[in-house]
Amino acid sequence: ECLDVAVQIARKAGKQGGVLSVPQVVQEAVKQEKRVSSKSTPTDLVTEADHQVEELIISTLKEKFPSHRFIGEESSAAGEKCVLTDSPTWIIDPIDGTCNFVHSFPMVAVSIGFAVNKELELGVIYHCLDGALYTGRKGHGAFCNGVRLQVSKEKDVSKALILTEIGAKRDPHTLDIFLGNMKKLLSAPAHGVRIIGSSTLALCHIASGAAEAYYQFGLHCWDVAAAAVIIREAGGCVMDTTGGPLDLMSRRVVAAGSQEVADYIVQQLQPISYGRDDHDP
Ligand code: IPD
Ligand code: CA
Ligand code: CA
Ligand code: CA
Repeated sequence: ECLDVAVQIARKAGKQGGVLSVPQVVQEAVKQEKRVSSKSTPTDLVTEADHQVEELIISTLKEKFPSHRFIGEESSAAGEKCVLTDSPTWIIDPIDGTCNFVHSFPMVAVSIGFAVNKELELGVIYHCLDGALYTGRKGHGAFCNGVRLQVSKEKDVSKALILTEIGAKRDPHTLDIFLGNMKKLLSAPAHGVRIIGSSTLALCHIASGAAEAYYQFGLHCWDVAAAAVIIREAGGCVMDTTGGPLDLMSRRVVAAGSQEVADYIVQQLQPISYGRDDHDP
């Protein structure tokens, strides 16, 4: 039931009482002049639509599941505790790719993950502007618009297309490490490195086999919660940049179709340190 509800919300539901659905809010807003403000840094953007969509998702889910807990990007920014407990918890990124959204660059997604006993159980990611709906449920496979997803089986990094994202930190030291990591992978030589501006959609491309690996420092739990289920169910691995198991709150991730490519990337990366999502405010 949780998966069905999440899919409805992410895709087409919510048009009750004249309320726009999640993709409609995004599709309408993308055409309009946006009121943009910034949060932690000048490049950490937020718009009215981010708040509107998060409110719509959480209020709809709360009606269905009043006892569940919620972690959402904009609620966390407003001071709500970002802590994963054993309770059933929805982990929501209302608009992933806000910077893309601001520029009408068409890589914008809604991401809804669900965890029970701190285990990720399901993930739904909807590409608001092209209609691709990615779903995954633990033990039941991953799909894009009903078609089963399968990761790339490539083991050789010199035949890999690698995706990454730049986090919010843009100081020269951080950027040097970021570029150094990219340089190592490009000189492996990987086929290429891409930055598309949406970590959830980039991770979906790992699940679909369109790219071999993804890594990032500085992403958040709501960027990876839903995608981790989808990638694992498509046969891929999602882990910490240290090579250990994924820690949802750590703001570090390596995901890949094959363990071999993931391990290679882990060995190359110089870490960039970010505070944890579940830090005390
Ligand atoms: C961000 C995007 C971006 C990534 C950041 C994310 P937002 O999410 O996915 O590509 O580099 O780490 O926080 O703020 O657009 O939801
Ligand atoms: Ca954001
Ligand atoms: Ca995001
Ligand atoms: Ca967001």
